[in-house]
Amino acid sequence: MYILGIETSCDETAIGIIDENLKIYANVIYSQIKEHKIFGGVVPEIASRKHIEKIKILSEEAFKLANLNVDEIDIISVTQGPGLIGSLLVGVNFAKAIAYALEKKLYFINHIEGHILSVFIENSVDFPFLSLVASGGHTNLFLVKNFGKYNLLGKTLDDAAGEAFDKVAKMLNLGYPGGPIVEKLAQNGDENSIAFPKSFIEKDNFNFSFSGLKTAVRNFIAKNKEFKIEDVCASFQKSVADVFIFKISEAAKKYNVKNICFSGGVACNTYIKSRINEFCINNKLNFYSPSPIYCTDNGVMIALAGLQHYKKSPDFKFKLSANAHSRLSNL
Ligand code: KG4
Ligand code: ZN
Repeated sequence: MYILGIETSCDETAIGIIDENLKIYANVIYSQIKEHKIFGGVVPEIASRKHIEKIKILSEEAFKLANLNVDEIDIISVTQGPGLIGSLLVGVNFAKAIAYALEKKLYFINHIEGHILSVFIENSVDFPFLSLVASGGHTNLFLVKNFGKYNLLGKTLDDAAGEAFDKVAKMLNLGYPGGPIVEKLAQNGDENSIAFPKSFIEKDNFNFSFSGLKTAVRNFIAKNKEFKIEDVCASFQKSVADVFIFKISEAAKKYNVKNICFSGGVACNTYIKSRINEFCINNKLNFYSPSPIYCTDNGVMIALAGLQHYKKSPDFKFKLSANAHSRLSNL
């Protein structure tokens, strides 16, 4: 059985092809970073147009890599939302066209579910587990009891963690996207040089808030004429990691969970990843995080989620459409 995964929720056009044993046949991604860089963030209209331009070429490339014909696909799986509506519509209508023309099964996938399940691409993880999904658009902590059983423990009340990285980079005129640049500069900074706030909110509350931290960075830059950019980056990054570890620690205790997963674009950050890993080792918890290529948006995670939907119920609803505010069932 072959599964095609299509992802176009934001600024990556991504196609993945896997089989039912999760063997990967293709994972092709067109990142639009250079199109959006000059604007310092994603411009929705440009993103949709680029998806239209790229989606067919990329799919052909994926089928060529997989050495498959499109009619050999059994299941088509596409991101329904959340995301930019124009971008989502490109992927959804492309998927619908193939599914209709070739009479294939079609599954609509929540983008966050894709990120949660991305840990299964390279690992087998036992349920239950905690899943921290941190990207440019989302910061969510889930208790995952099984495939399809996602209990949202907390989410960001304002900025997403990746968004905070992007905004801090913008304040420092470092470019877009901010995450990788801030991480690189932080390597040469002193993480204890500036005491930025850590928004733990309160005990027994698993929500996040990063706008206070972002504002503290802005105020620091405005008030201080001379500072090392590297120190700002390192101290900011440390605050984000400390908050993540605090929330994971509290949730692991409360729900007695031994397996911790970290995914989404911010999970590309090797400093944050190694801090969480170190915490897990010290507390006898198992830590899982995908390789960077599966942390950022990709089609393989969407294909994997589609396979799980098919296993749960071979029925599918062809008539659904893109939904910019799509929620996981128990969000
Ligand atoms: O998951 P993703 O590709 O797209 C969304 O669904 O948003 O995540 C992109 C986000 C951006 O905000 C980017 O700055 C952040 O992930 N990011 C990082 C790193 N690499 C990407 N944040 C921190 N450190 C990184 N190394
Ligand atoms: Zn994403």
